[in-house]
Amino acid sequence: MKTLKLSPIVWGAWRLTRSSLTVQDLNRLIHECAELGITSFDHADIYGGYAAEGIFGQALKLSPGLRDQVQLLTKCGIAAVSTLRPEHGTKTYNSSAAHIAACIDLSLESLGTGQLDLLMLHRPDYLMNARETAQALKKAVQSGKVRAVGVSNFLPSQVLLLRQYMDVPLAVNQVEFSLGAMQALDNGVLDQCQQFDIVPMAWSPLAGGSLFGDSDLAKRLKPELTRLAGEHHCTPDAVALAWLMRCPSGVVPVVGSVRIERLRDAWRATQLELGRQDWYRLWVAGAGRQLP
Ligand SMILES: NC(=O)c1ccc[n+]([C@@H]2O[C@H](COP(=O)([O-])OP(=O)(O)OC[C@H]3O[C@@H](n4cnc5c(N)ncnc54)[C@H](OP(=O)(O)O)[C@@H]3O)[C@@H](O)[C@H]2O)c1
Repeated sequence: MKTLKLSPIVWGAWRLTRSSLTVQDLNRLIHECAELGITSFDHADIYGGYAAEGIFGQALKLSPGLRDQVQLLTKCGIAAVSTLRPEHGTKTYNSSAAHIAACIDLSLESLGTGQLDLLMLHRPDYLMNARETAQALKKAVQSGKVRAVGVSNFLPSQVLLLRQYMDVPLAVNQVEFSLGAMQALDNGVLDQCQQFDIVPMAWSPLAGGSLFGDSDLAKRLKPELTRLAGEHHCTPDAVALAWLMRCPSGVVPVVGSVRIERLRDAWRATQLELGRQDWYRLWVAGAGRQLP
Protein backbone atom coordinates (compact mmCIF):
# COMPACT_ATOMS: atom_id res chain seq x y z
CA MET A 1 0.00 0.00 0.00
CA LYS A 2 1.44 3.40 -0.99
CA THR A 3 1.19 5.82 1.90
CA LEU A 4 -0.97 8.88 1.56
CA LYS A 5 0.76 12.18 0.96
CA LEU A 6 -1.40 15.26 1.16
CA SER A 7 -0.45 18.66 -0.20
CA PRO A 8 0.34 21.15 2.61
CA ILE A 9 -2.90 22.98 1.82
CA VAL A 10 -5.98 21.11 0.63
CA TRP A 11 -8.89 22.51 -1.38
CA GLY A 12 -12.40 21.75 -0.14
CA ALA A 13 -15.46 21.25 -2.34
CA TRP A 14 -18.17 22.15 0.18
CA ARG A 15 -18.94 25.55 -1.42
CA LEU A 16 -18.66 24.30 -5.00
CA THR A 17 -22.35 23.96 -5.83
CA ARG A 18 -23.06 27.38 -4.30
CA SER A 19 -20.57 28.98 -6.69
CA SER A 20 -21.16 29.92 -10.31
CA LEU A 21 -18.26 27.77 -11.56
CA THR A 22 -18.99 25.74 -14.68
CA VAL A 23 -17.38 22.34 -15.18
CA GLN A 24 -14.84 24.04 -17.49
CA ASP A 25 -14.09 26.69 -14.83
CA LEU A 26 -13.60 23.97 -12.27
CA ASN A 27 -11.27 22.08 -14.59
CA ARG A 28 -9.18 25.26 -14.91
CA LEU A 29 -9.23 25.75 -11.14
CA ILE A 30 -8.00 22.19 -10.55
CA HIS A 31 -5.13 22.76 -13.01
CA GLU A 32 -4.24 26.08 -11.37
CA CYS A 33 -4.35 24.56 -7.91
CA ALA A 34 -2.12 21.69 -8.99
CA GLU A 35 0.39 24.12 -10.56
CA LEU A 36 0.46 26.01 -7.27
CA GLY A 37 1.00 22.84 -5.22
CA ILE A 38 -2.55 22.26 -3.97
CA THR A 39 -2.97 18.72 -5.25
CA SER A 40 -5.34 17.29 -2.62
CA PHE A 41 -9.09 17.85 -2.98
CA ASP A 42 -11.50 17.29 -0.12
CA HIS A 43 -15.03 16.07 -0.74
CA ALA A 44 -17.91 14.41 1.06
CA ASP A 45 -20.65 12.38 -0.55
CA ILE A 46 -23.24 14.81 0.87
CA TYR A 47 -21.70 18.06 -0.50
CA GLY A 48 -24.05 19.91 -2.80
CA GLY A 49 -26.87 17.53 -1.89
CA TYR A 50 -24.86 14.57 -3.24
CA ALA A 51 -24.01 16.47 -6.45
CA ALA A 52 -20.54 17.98 -5.85
CA GLU A 53 -18.51 14.80 -6.36
CA GLY A 54 -20.17 14.24 -9.73
CA ILE A 55 -19.40 17.77 -10.92
CA PHE A 56 -15.78 17.38 -9.83
CA GLY A 57 -15.59 14.02 -11.62
CA GLN A 58 -16.79 15.66 -14.84
CA ALA A 59 -14.20 18.43 -14.47
CA LEU A 60 -11.41 15.89 -14.00
CA LYS A 61 -12.53 13.93 -17.03
CA LEU A 62 -12.03 16.97 -19.29
CA SER A 63 -8.24 16.55 -18.94
CA PRO A 64 -6.96 13.01 -19.43
CA GLY A 65 -4.16 12.37 -16.95
CA LEU A 66 -5.32 15.03 -14.48
CA ARG A 67 -6.67 12.39 -12.09
CA ASP A 68 -3.15 11.04 -11.60
CA GLN A 69 -1.82 14.46 -10.58
CA VAL A 70 -4.25 14.87 -7.68
CA GLN A 71 -5.38 13.14 -4.50
CA LEU A 72 -9.12 12.59 -4.06
CA LEU A 73 -10.34 12.68 -0.48
CA THR A 74 -13.92 12.04 0.51
CA LYS A 75 -16.14 11.29 3.48
CA CYS A 76 -19.08 9.07 4.21
CA GLY A 77 -21.17 8.34 7.26
CA ILE A 78 -23.82 11.06 7.18
CA ALA A 79 -26.98 9.73 5.59
CA ALA A 80 -28.71 12.96 4.62
CA VAL A 81 -32.24 13.44 3.38
CA SER A 82 -32.15 13.76 -0.41
CA THR A 83 -34.22 12.84 -3.41
CA LEU A 84 -30.99 11.28 -4.69
CA ARG A 85 -30.92 8.91 -1.69
CA PRO A 86 -34.61 8.07 -1.02
CA GLU A 87 -33.57 5.06 1.05
CA HIS A 88 -32.18 7.35 3.76
CA GLY A 89 -35.50 8.60 5.16
CA THR A 90 -34.61 10.54 8.32
CA LYS A 91 -31.13 12.04 8.59
CA THR A 92 -28.84 9.70 10.50
CA TYR A 93 -25.15 9.06 11.06
CA ASN A 94 -24.28 5.62 9.76
CA SER A 95 -20.96 3.85 10.24
CA SER A 96 -22.26 0.36 9.44
CA ALA A 97 -20.24 -1.84 7.11
CA ALA A 98 -23.05 -1.92 4.54
CA HIS A 99 -23.36 1.88 4.45
CA ILE A 100 -19.62 2.43 4.16
CA ALA A 101 -19.28 -0.10 1.33
CA ALA A 102 -22.21 1.39 -0.60
CA CYS A 103 -20.88 4.95 -0.17
CA ILE A 104 -17.43 4.00 -1.44
CA ASP A 105 -18.88 2.58 -4.65
CA LEU A 106 -21.03 5.66 -5.21
CA SER A 107 -18.12 8.06 -4.59
CA LEU A 108 -15.85 6.11 -6.94
CA GLU A 109 -18.48 6.33 -9.64
CA SER A 110 -19.22 10.03 -9.10
CA LEU A 111 -15.57 11.05 -9.04
CA GLY A 112 -14.82 8.79 -12.01
CA THR A 113 -11.93 6.98 -10.40
CA GLY A 114 -10.96 3.46 -9.48
CA GLN A 115 -9.47 4.44 -6.13
CA LEU A 116 -10.12 7.05 -3.46
CA ASP A 117 -6.88 8.35 -1.96
CA LEU A 118 -8.55 8.89 1.41
CA LEU A 119 -11.91 7.93 2.87
CA MET A 120 -12.97 9.57 6.14
CA LEU A 121 -15.88 8.86 8.46
CA HIS A 122 -17.56 12.25 8.39
CA ARG A 123 -18.82 12.39 11.98
CA PRO A 124 -18.82 10.07 14.96
CA ASP A 125 -21.88 7.82 14.85
CA TYR A 126 -23.45 7.40 18.29
CA LEU A 127 -24.37 3.87 17.23
CA MET A 128 -20.90 2.97 15.95
CA ASN A 129 -19.92 -0.63 16.51
CA ALA A 130 -16.17 -0.02 16.47
CA ARG A 131 -15.26 -3.58 15.56
CA GLU A 132 -17.61 -3.61 12.56
CA THR A 133 -16.57 -0.14 11.38
CA ALA A 134 -12.87 -0.96 11.67
CA GLN A 135 -13.41 -4.13 9.66
CA ALA A 136 -15.25 -2.19 6.96
CA LEU A 137 -12.42 0.34 6.70
CA LYS A 138 -9.81 -2.41 6.53
CA LYS A 139 -11.80 -4.19 3.81
CA ALA A 140 -11.99 -0.94 1.84
CA VAL A 141 -8.20 -0.65 1.89
CA GLN A 142 -7.59 -4.32 1.15
CA SER A 143 -9.94 -4.21 -1.83
CA GLY A 144 -7.85 -1.39 -3.31
CA LYS A 145 -10.88 0.89 -3.56
CA VAL A 146 -9.38 3.18 -0.92
CA ARG A 147 -5.73 3.99 -0.37
CA ALA A 148 -6.02 5.29 3.20
CA VAL A 149 -8.71 5.84 5.81
CA GLY A 150 -9.33 8.43 8.48
CA VAL A 151 -11.95 10.18 10.55
CA SER A 152 -13.45 13.62 10.89
CA ASN A 153 -14.82 15.45 13.92
CA PHE A 154 -13.71 12.62 16.20
CA LEU A 155 -12.77 13.29 19.81
CA PRO A 156 -9.64 11.56 21.12
CA SER A 157 -11.72 8.95 22.98
CA GLN A 158 -13.54 8.07 19.76
CA VAL A 159 -10.25 7.75 17.88
CA LEU A 160 -8.90 5.47 20.59
CA LEU A 161 -11.99 3.28 20.47
CA LEU A 162 -11.84 2.81 16.70
CA ARG A 163 -8.07 2.51 16.63
CA GLN A 164 -8.21 -0.38 19.04
CA TYR A 165 -9.83 -2.53 16.34
CA MET A 166 -7.91 -1.20 13.33
CA ASP A 167 -4.99 -2.93 11.73
CA VAL A 168 -4.64 -0.27 9.07
CA PRO A 169 -3.63 3.19 10.34
CA LEU A 170 -6.06 6.06 10.80
CA ALA A 171 -4.30 8.60 8.60
CA VAL A 172 -6.18 11.81 9.48
CA ASN A 173 -8.65 13.45 11.81
CA GLN A 174 -10.32 16.39 10.04
CA VAL A 175 -11.68 18.84 12.61
CA GLU A 176 -12.79 22.44 12.81
CA PHE A 177 -9.78 24.60 13.62
CA SER A 178 -9.11 28.27 13.06
CA LEU A 179 -8.33 31.45 14.99
CA GLY A 180 -12.08 31.57 15.56
CA ALA A 181 -12.47 27.93 16.64
CA MET A 182 -9.55 26.83 18.76
CA GLN A 183 -11.04 23.89 20.66
CA ALA A 184 -8.69 21.38 18.99
CA LEU A 185 -5.84 22.95 20.99
CA ASP A 186 -7.54 22.08 24.26
CA ASN A 187 -9.68 18.99 23.69
CA GLY A 188 -6.75 16.68 23.05
CA VAL A 189 -7.27 16.29 19.29
CA LEU A 190 -3.97 17.89 18.26
CA ASP A 191 -2.03 16.20 21.07
CA GLN A 192 -3.35 12.83 19.97
CA CYS A 193 -2.50 13.53 16.34
CA GLN A 194 1.07 14.30 17.34
CA GLN A 195 1.21 11.18 19.51
CA PHE A 196 -0.04 8.77 16.85
CA ASP A 197 1.19 10.48 13.65
CA ILE A 198 -2.35 11.24 12.59
CA VAL A 199 -2.53 14.23 10.24
CA PRO A 200 -4.86 16.88 11.66
CA MET A 201 -6.78 18.51 8.82
CA ALA A 202 -8.36 21.87 9.69
CA TRP A 203 -11.77 22.52 8.19
CA SER A 204 -13.02 26.10 7.81
CA PRO A 205 -9.45 27.29 8.58
CA LEU A 206 -10.48 30.91 7.94
CA ALA A 207 -13.72 30.39 9.88
CA GLY A 208 -15.61 30.59 6.61
CA GLY A 209 -14.31 34.14 6.06
CA SER A 210 -15.53 35.45 9.42
CA LEU A 211 -11.96 36.14 10.59
CA PHE A 212 -12.10 39.16 8.29
CA GLY A 213 -15.56 40.68 8.64
CA ASP A 214 -17.02 43.11 11.15
CA SER A 215 -17.47 40.69 14.01
CA ASP A 216 -15.82 41.22 17.39
CA LEU A 217 -13.46 38.36 16.52
CA ALA A 218 -12.41 40.02 13.26
CA LYS A 219 -11.89 43.37 15.02
CA ARG A 220 -9.68 41.73 17.64
CA LEU A 221 -7.62 39.91 15.00
CA LYS A 222 -7.25 42.72 12.51
CA PRO A 223 -4.33 44.65 14.06
CA GLU A 224 -2.19 41.51 14.48
CA LEU A 225 -3.10 39.96 11.12
CA THR A 226 -2.47 43.25 9.33
CA ARG A 227 0.85 43.84 11.06
CA LEU A 228 2.12 40.34 10.31
CA ALA A 229 0.84 40.44 6.74
CA GLY A 230 2.84 43.64 6.26
CA GLU A 231 5.98 42.15 7.78
CA HIS A 232 5.77 38.98 5.70
CA HIS A 233 4.53 40.64 2.48
CA CYS A 234 1.46 38.45 2.31
CA THR A 235 -2.26 38.66 3.05
CA PRO A 236 -3.99 38.25 6.43
CA ASP A 237 -5.39 34.98 5.02
CA ALA A 238 -1.87 33.56 4.70
CA VAL A 239 -0.99 34.65 8.25
CA ALA A 240 -4.12 32.98 9.64
CA LEU A 241 -3.26 29.74 7.84
CA ALA A 242 0.39 29.92 8.90
CA TRP A 243 -0.85 30.18 12.51
CA LEU A 244 -2.52 26.79 12.12
CA MET A 245 0.43 25.24 10.31
CA ARG A 246 2.82 26.32 13.08
CA CYS A 247 1.30 23.67 15.37
CA PRO A 248 3.78 20.81 15.83
CA SER A 249 1.22 18.15 14.89
CA GLY A 250 1.48 19.29 11.25
CA VAL A 251 -1.91 20.82 10.59
CA VAL A 252 -3.14 20.74 6.98
CA PRO A 253 -5.73 23.48 6.31
CA VAL A 254 -8.64 22.71 4.00
CA VAL A 255 -9.44 26.00 2.30
CA GLY A 256 -12.82 26.60 0.74
CA SER A 257 -12.54 29.56 -1.63
CA VAL A 258 -13.28 28.90 -5.29
CA ARG A 259 -11.23 31.94 -6.32
CA ILE A 260 -7.73 31.22 -7.56
CA GLU A 261 -6.36 34.57 -6.39
CA ARG A 262 -7.41 33.73 -2.82
CA LEU A 263 -5.82 30.30 -3.16
CA ARG A 264 -2.58 31.89 -4.37
CA ASP A 265 -2.66 34.12 -1.29
CA ALA A 266 -3.30 31.07 0.86
CA TRP A 267 -0.34 29.21 -0.61
CA ARG A 268 2.02 31.88 0.75
CA ALA A 269 1.32 30.37 4.18
CA THR A 270 3.50 27.41 3.22
CA GLN A 271 6.50 29.77 3.18
CA LEU A 272 5.84 31.48 6.53
CA GLU A 273 6.94 30.36 9.93
CA LEU A 274 5.49 32.45 12.72
CA GLY A 275 7.61 33.05 15.79
CA ARG A 276 6.43 32.03 19.25
CA GLN A 277 5.63 35.62 20.29
CA ASP A 278 3.54 36.27 17.20
CA TRP A 279 1.78 32.92 17.51
CA TYR A 280 0.72 33.66 21.07
CA ARG A 281 -0.33 37.24 20.25
CA LEU A 282 -2.68 35.77 17.66
CA TRP A 283 -3.93 33.20 20.18
CA VAL A 284 -4.80 36.03 22.60
CA ALA A 285 -6.57 37.98 19.85
CA GLY A 286 -8.49 34.91 18.70
CA ALA A 287 -9.43 33.74 22.19
CA GLY A 288 -10.34 37.25 23.34
CA ARG A 289 -8.58 36.76 26.65
CA GLN A 290 -5.08 36.75 28.08
CA LEU A 291 -3.17 33.53 28.65
CA PRO A 292 -3.92 32.21 32.12
N1 LIG B 1 -15.33 17.58 7.96
C1 LIG B 1 -16.29 18.46 8.16
O1 LIG B 1 -17.22 18.25 8.97
C2 LIG B 1 -16.27 19.74 7.40
C3 LIG B 1 -17.15 20.79 7.75
C4 LIG B 1 -17.07 21.98 7.02
C5 LIG B 1 -16.13 22.11 5.98
N2 LIG B 1 -15.31 21.05 5.67
C6 LIG B 1 -14.30 21.15 4.60
O2 LIG B 1 -13.56 22.34 4.79
C7 LIG B 1 -13.54 23.05 3.55
C8 LIG B 1 -13.32 24.49 3.79
O3 LIG B 1 -14.38 25.06 4.57
P1 LIG B 1 -14.72 26.60 4.38
O4 LIG B 1 -15.14 26.86 2.99
O5 LIG B 1 -15.64 26.99 5.46
O6 LIG B 1 -13.25 27.20 4.64
P2 LIG B 1 -12.64 28.65 4.75
O7 LIG B 1 -11.46 28.67 3.84
O8 LIG B 1 -12.46 28.95 6.19
O9 LIG B 1 -13.77 29.64 4.22
C9 LIG B 1 -13.92 29.91 2.86
C10 LIG B 1 -14.80 31.16 2.77
O10 LIG B 1 -14.08 32.25 3.35
C11 LIG B 1 -14.14 33.34 2.47
N3 LIG B 1 -12.91 34.14 2.64
C12 LIG B 1 -11.63 33.71 2.57
N4 LIG B 1 -10.78 34.76 2.76
C13 LIG B 1 -11.55 35.84 2.94
C14 LIG B 1 -11.27 37.23 3.19
N5 LIG B 1 -10.01 37.67 3.30
N6 LIG B 1 -12.31 38.07 3.33
C15 LIG B 1 -13.59 37.63 3.22
N7 LIG B 1 -13.92 36.34 2.99
C16 LIG B 1 -12.91 35.46 2.86
C17 LIG B 1 -14.24 32.74 1.10
O11 LIG B 1 -14.81 33.67 0.23
P3 LIG B 1 -14.53 33.64 -1.36
O12 LIG B 1 -15.24 32.42 -1.86
O13 LIG B 1 -15.12 34.93 -1.80
O14 LIG B 1 -13.07 33.56 -1.58
C18 LIG B 1 -15.13 31.54 1.35
O15 LIG B 1 -16.49 31.91 1.29
C19 LIG B 1 -14.88 22.67 2.91
O16 LIG B 1 -14.89 22.91 1.52
C20 LIG B 1 -14.93 21.21 3.21
O17 LIG B 1 -14.11 20.50 2.31
C21 LIG B 1 -15.36 19.88 6.36
